[in-house]
Amino acid sequence: MPGLRVAFTGGSGKVGRHVIQTLVNHGHQVINLDLVDLSTTTSGDPTFSALQNVHTIKCDLTDSGQVFSALNTHMTLGEPFPAEPPRPVDAVIHFAGINKPMVVSDGETFRINVLGTHNVVEAACKLGIKKVILASSVTVYGVAFGQGDLEYASFPVTEACDTNPTDPYALSKLCGERVARGYAARFGVDIYCLRIGRVFEPHEYTGGDMFRGYVREPEKWFQHGWSYTDARDLGAMCHCGLLTSGLGFQVFNAVNTTITNESSDTASFLRGLYPHIPQTGGLEQSEAPISNRKIRRMLGFKDEHDWRIYLTSW
Ligand SMILES: NC(=O)c1ccc[n+]([C@@H]2O[C@H](COP(=O)([O-])OP(=O)(O)OC[C@H]3O[C@@H](n4cnc5c(N)ncnc54)[C@H](O)[C@@H]3O)[C@@H](O)[C@H]2O)c1
Repeated sequence: MPGLRVAFTGGSGKVGRHVIQTLVNHGHQVINLDLVDLSTTTSGDPTFSALQNVHTIKCDLTDSGQVFSALNTHMTLGEPFPAEPPRPVDAVIHFAGINKPMVVSDGETFRINVLGTHNVVEAACKLGIKKVILASSVTVYGVAFGQGDLEYASFPVTEACDTNPTDPYALSKLCGERVARGYAARFGVDIYCLRIGRVFEPHEYTGGDMFRGYVREPEKWFQHGWSYTDARDLGAMCHCGLLTSGLGFQVFNAVNTTITNESSDTASFLRGLYPHIPQTGGLEQSEAPISNRKIRRMLGFKDEHDWRIYLTSW
């Protein structure tokens, strides 16, 4: 399949630049819609050398008119422009927004994320774009950013589990999923929502204490469900989503396959820490408690960046 013309929102952020890099490596042509230029977070870093030709249209996604305009576009700035007029992109991947609570006020978190998602989905559907992929979050299960020590109701945590978030960030993500569901049904398009775990950039496995903390003190990290998402593998998930069509509205746990722990037996690891939480559906050896089986099965995703390749001593 030839590369697609993809509008990526939020590509100048921590996660987006890695995802764009993966998409470009797979031959897609990408344009970035963000408040800030991609070069401000990538220039001079050899990791992102493939991004030099990715153009940013500065665009506030909470303004519907700007979104409609930017999704109908040439992919690069040309002198001259091609003879044919700009046209809607083939697909939109929407990552822009506020990435956790308390960056801005609660109301602003909710407004920017929900309105931004609505504007992107509405414009994509009305411009005839048939594929939209959205950044949701495992926080919709309500444990991360929950009030106090909440627990997962059962393991593995699958997409069929209840979602009951209480904080404005996770609520905004769940609302985004509902917007997606409504528009996918109304317009007959594919909208895939990725419930992303805590994202790790390559340098973060060894460059900070968090992953070592996962391994050494797993009892302190119940809120992340002993699961994580590699930024490059997240790019691969988006690529798989671009290649697979006809699934309508879907949510996928977008985490890596392996538990963030030395344990080779996830079932006994969980029984040791949480003997009272039921285990349903079986758990594979070393499987992450937040299950990515659905995205592996339906989109054909395979991870390349298991954390154990990068963090070999702790
Ligand atoms: N970082 C994680 O661990 C993590 C985990 C789960 C889900 N996510 C989701 O992934 C996405 C990316 O997260 P990130 O960590 O890269 O965040 P980030 O804050 O680093 O990047 C977000 C980008 O969105 C842009 N943006 C914000 N408001 C905008 C607006 N109104 N219009 C246009 N652009 C706007 C920002 O300029 C920034 O470049 C977010 O949707 C986040 O909720 C992230």
